[in-house]
Amino acid sequence: MKFRWILFLTLLLSGCSQNIEVDNSGERLEDSPKPAANPNAAPLARAGATEDEPKIPPFVKAYFMHMWVEALYSPPQNKHPNPKWESPLKDPVDGRVWCTDCHVSGQIDFSKIPKVRSPMVADLEKDKSFMAGLMKKWVERLNSEEFGAKAKLKGTVTCLTCHATNPELE
Ligand code: HEC
Ligand code: HEC
Repeated sequence: MKFRWILFLTLLLSGCSQNIEVDNSGERLEDSPKPAANPNAAPLARAGATEDEPKIPPFVKAYFMHMWVEALYSPPQNKHPNPKWESPLKDPVDGRVWCTDCHVSGQIDFSKIPKVRSPMVADLEKDKSFMAGLMKKWVERLNSEEFGAKAKLKGTVTCLTCHATNPELE
C-alpha cells in the first residue's frame, strides 16, 4: 500500500522533470533538446506562452485544484470572490465534482494527491497570467460534454461564478 503511494508520486514527479533535464554530453547544438524556459523570466514574457509551464511541480497545481474544486461547493477563497456566489452544482452536498470526473486516465488516482501549501504556491498566486491560464483550462473541462462534471452543474460556469469581476483585469 505504502509502496504504491510512493511509486505513483515518483511517477508524477519524474514525468514532470523530464522536460527540464538537458544532457550536455557534447552533441551538436541542433541535436540537443530545447532548453526549458527560464523560470525567472519576466512575467510579461511568460504571459505570451501558450504551452503549460513544465517546471511547475504537479503538487503545486494540486493545491490550486483543491482550492478550485472546493469553490464549487463552498464560498471561494480567491482575492475578490463573487459576493453573490452560490454553488453552481445541482447538489453541493451529495453531487460534488471530484478529481476523477476530469482525470480519467486511471493510471494515477488524482483524488489521492493531497492539498499541500508550499512556498511556491504563495508566489504563483500573485502570477495573474499563470493563474488565469490554469483556470481557463479547468473551466473549459468543467463545462465540456466529454467529461463527467458537466452533468452535475446547474448551468455553464464562468469566471464570474467565483470572481466578483474579471480576474484578469483586477
Ligand atoms: C473540471 C475538471 C477538473 C477537476 C474537477 C480536477 N482537475 Fe486537475 N486538471 C484539470 C485539467 C484540465 C488539468 C490540465 C491543465 C493544467 O493544469 O495544466 C489539470 C491538471 C492537474 C494537475 C497537474 C498535472 C500535471 O501533470 O502537472 C494536478 C496535480 C491535478 N490536476 C490534480 C487534481 C486534483 C487533486 C483534483 C481534485 C481535488 C483535480 N485535479 C480536479 C481538470 C480538472
Ligand atoms: C469554481 C470557482 C472558480 C472559477 C469558476 C474560477 N476561479 Fe479563479 N480562482 C478561484 C479560487 C478558489 C482561487 C484562489 C486560488 C488560490 O489562491 O489558491 C482563484 C484564483 C484566481 C486568480 C488569482 C487571483 C485571485 O483572485 O486569487 C486568477 C487570476 C483567476 N483565479 C482567474 C480566473 C479566470 C480567468 C477564470 C475563468 C476562466 C476563473 N478564475 C474561474 C476560483 C475560481
